Amino acid sequence: MQNLDKNFIGSIPEFYDTYLVPLIFKEYADDLASRVLAGTSNKILETAAGSGVVTRALANKISSSSEYIVTDLNQPMLDHAQAQQPHRDNLTWQQADALNLPFDDHQFDVVICQFGVMFFPDKLIAYSEVNRVLKPQGRYIFSVWDCIENNVLADLVTQAAGTVFPDDPPMFMS
Ligand SMILES: C[S@@+](CC[C@H](N)C(=O)[O-])C[C@H]1O[C@@H](n2cnc3c(N)ncnc32)[C@H](O)[C@@H]1O
Repeated sequence: MQNLDKNFIGSIPEFYDTYLVPLIFKEYADDLASRVLAGTSNKILETAAGSGVVTRALANKISSSSEYIVTDLNQPMLDHAQAQQPHRDNLTWQQADALNLPFDDHQFDVVICQFGVMFFPDKLIAYSEVNRVLKPQGRYIFSVWDCIENNVLADLVTQAAGTVFPDDPPMFMS
């Protein structure tokens, strides 16, 4: 994967949220939110939150006594997410690298990450970090996409976009 693929900056947050979120991510966000609510969720950490589709699906459903910290590596994605989200006292936005979480050990009941782990350059470190910040018996709920050959829509879109931009084909989904 090219290094550029982890830079969700510039015009990307707005285009991502406007086009990719309704096409791909919204339905999974609703599903993930329901899984969070099915268990203990007094203190929630979200990593790689992107433009906030999961946060929007979850924030207004948790108890006002729950704490929800929303993080992403790229501040522009978080800025976009925060701008879409009504203020809530129990919601905190914080830039954070999933490989080096700026939180103490055993803080969270649940850590969530929708379609972020594929972008983490060292999966073992990223999973270790989750294990470190989770309380004993805490839950890690994440989603990940399969290789592009098994994703018909993503494969077709990538191939079609590649014919339009043959010198710089978008590799985001592959
Ligand atoms: C495909 S997007 C998913 C965003 C959001 N969770 C969603 O479902 O729409 C991947 C996200 O991973 C973030 N990301 C990439 N590398 C990261 C890292 N090392 N730590 C935290 N976030 C990272 C990107 O900034 C981007 O917002």
